[in-house]
Amino acid sequence: FTAVDLIRTKRDGGALGPEQIDWLIDGYVQGRVAEEQMAALAMAILLNGMDRQEISRWTTAMIDSGQRMDFSGLRRNGQRLPTVDKHSTGGVGDKITLPLAPLVAAHGVAVPQLSGRGLGHTGGTLDKLEAIPGWRADVDHDQLLRQLETVGAVVCAAGGDLAPADKKLYALRNVTGTVESIALIASSIMSKKIAEGADALVLDVKVGRGAFMKDQAAARELAETMVALGTDVSVATTALLTDMSTPLGFAVGNACEVAEAQDVLAGGGPSDVVELTLALAREMLAAAGVDEDPADALRDGRAMDTWRAMIAAQGGDPHADLPQAAVTETVTAPRDGVVTGVDALEIGMAAWGLGAGRARKEDRVLAEAGVVLHAKPGDTVRQGQPLATVHTDTASRVESVVQRIHTAYTLTNTQPERPVARDLILGRVVA
Ligand code: URA
Repeated sequence: FTAVDLIRTKRDGGALGPEQIDWLIDGYVQGRVAEEQMAALAMAILLNGMDRQEISRWTTAMIDSGQRMDFSGLRRNGQRLPTVDKHSTGGVGDKITLPLAPLVAAHGVAVPQLSGRGLGHTGGTLDKLEAIPGWRADVDHDQLLRQLETVGAVVCAAGGDLAPADKKLYALRNVTGTVESIALIASSIMSKKIAEGADALVLDVKVGRGAFMKDQAAARELAETMVALGTDVSVATTALLTDMSTPLGFAVGNACEVAEAQDVLAGGGPSDVVELTLALAREMLAAAGVDEDPADALRDGRAMDTWRAMIAAQGGDPHADLPQAAVTETVTAPRDGVVTGVDALEIGMAAWGLGAGRARKEDRVLAEAGVVLHAKPGDTVRQGQPLATVHTDTASRVESVVQRIHTAYTLTNTQPERPVARDLILGRVVA
């Protein structure tokens, strides 16, 4: 083959054969296919799509560019431990992994969460956990296995040998306007998740202003594509479509999200965070064949015990005070009204502007930075009442962010005819 011929095939709306895809992915990792050729191909794929067979082979080729993890030997008390993994396509205030991983692990299921860092307006699970003094994201393979057998949950950074073709391709897509392709997103996410080697996978596919997928039809197509990819390789995969038009919970940032996750683990916390944590936990437990109600483990402290063990196993002090911001400012309602919307994208951008996220991979994030909301859709506010408090390190970051917070809030003068209700879980996709 030649790269140019294969680019022409996709440009003209044709399909690539299995050997052609293997050759392309291998050639790209080895450097025989140049960056500019892969960029042109990615654009042709974004414009013309890939069929199911192409996406499936593309995913397998990216998995085969690296190592697959194997958890089949995990044992506790002589019994094989089932493994279940969760993936979210990314949102604002999405701290669900923090309470979810220990909650599911508290039921005797191993949860290996290989997670990422934030880029752009969505946060990263590792950045959030690094707000905990001492906590380390780097866990070697032996510790990963040991921690799964003892504690049951690990949240850590993925090693470089997990789908390296995807790492290279994702970096290229980020700078060539080719991220927003369902075929490329589905194969990117699923190559990493399948290589992680869990028995089952639960996907949280976000929909709305704060998500990649702005409408339900696109989110459903992405979910169906990913569920099919998992099912093809015998990883039991289900997906929930969930709302990301409004941030999850009240806290958006790093340390403040850890604090909110701990509230959930203590049996309290915002109702939307609790609802989604329990919905995903039920999916994960069902996939592992466990017939128990996860709400019990939030009430009786088992999930909190597992959280503390998980944090301590990675060097963190679960009882330490979390970093506090040097500068805080409270944004207040400009007039009386009813909150009918809090735009997740604006709030995510605000948290980013405060230092909670990064613009380039090598940037450092501020643990103490973030936005804490005081009013959510449905709340009635009086003029001067707090809408949100911003947390950061320097006053100069605050000004532009305050405007974003005002933009994020939609206030109406009159009580809406129907109550402002949020449908958090919009759909479920199974094979
Ligand atoms: N997350 C990924 O891992 N890959 C994508 O392509 C998009 C989001």
